[in-house]
Amino acid sequence: MALAAASCLPVHAERKRRWPTRDGAAPLVIAHRGASGYLPEHTLAAYELAVRMGADCIEPDLHLTRDGQLVAMHDATLERTTDAATRFAARNGGWRVADFSLEEIRQLEMRPQGTAALSVPGFRPSSAHPLRVPTLEEIIGLARRLEAEGARAIGLYPEAKQAGPRLASHLLNVLSAAGYVGSDKVFLQSFDLDTVRNLARRQQALGLGYRLVLLSGSANRLLAMDLDRIAGFASGVGVNIRGEGMSRSFIAMAHAAGLTVHGYTFNEARAATALPEYRKFMGWGMDGVFSNYPDLALQARTAQARLH
Ligand code: G3P
Ligand code: CA
Repeated sequence: MALAAASCLPVHAERKRRWPTRDGAAPLVIAHRGASGYLPEHTLAAYELAVRMGADCIEPDLHLTRDGQLVAMHDATLERTTDAATRFAARNGGWRVADFSLEEIRQLEMRPQGTAALSVPGFRPSSAHPLRVPTLEEIIGLARRLEAEGARAIGLYPEAKQAGPRLASHLLNVLSAAGYVGSDKVFLQSFDLDTVRNLARRQQALGLGYRLVLLSGSANRLLAMDLDRIAGFASGVGVNIRGEGMSRSFIAMAHAAGLTVHGYTFNEARAATALPEYRKFMGWGMDGVFSNYPDLALQARTAQARLH
């Protein structure tokens, strides 16, 4: 694992080169749920580690609590990644995020998944509560602080995990209140077509212009929806790299329609298998990679840059 020598990397030299991406810039390295291969997903510790490694963007999946707070959590329920099932054992009706208040969620301890652990040698998180479920505001606070410290923009890539207008509305409110504008490195994503279209309409009404990304488990499904139509309300698509129809020609078709293509999820932990995978998709012109191991994605990008 490699941490940047300085707290945050300067602008990457390879960004100046011409890549086969839609705009010719280097593909974005998006820390999927933070550096979630190393630390508990969706914690300030995992997001900070990703930034210290040099990731371009951090990716919070978002749910609303019972009292209307946006918190970072992949699942709609709390028991996979936290100790909710033991701490709130008597709770009727399961452990849905939507049934818990923020104050209750703040009592939970994280349970690391897969290759993640509770700490990483040589890395000390700077937040007061690095290993609890964070709110979107806390994630933004961390990003802003690290931006100031490292003099580089840190992209935010929130996903609306709940369909419907309520979460979308909160998300736009929090981002605009935090001072983000459309030209910032902000991408809003959802698997739900209506949510993305709703975000597009609301943004138009509010004079906001964050980039919108429609997610899909299959490139073929996006082709069936018509890429030109998608380009009418989104700037890009996020696609399962192992789904049907993901290919060099799909990326070329998306680019021709004016869409960027960000691939998920690069979850190979070993360099020997991870690096060839990045090389293939970056060589095809993929515009961004969602990675659990952003250090490996950055290593692959640096190696690939030498070929352009
Ligand atoms: O948002 C892109 C990717 O994260 C989608 O997968 O299930 O990890 O949110 P998931
Ligand atoms: Ca996601």
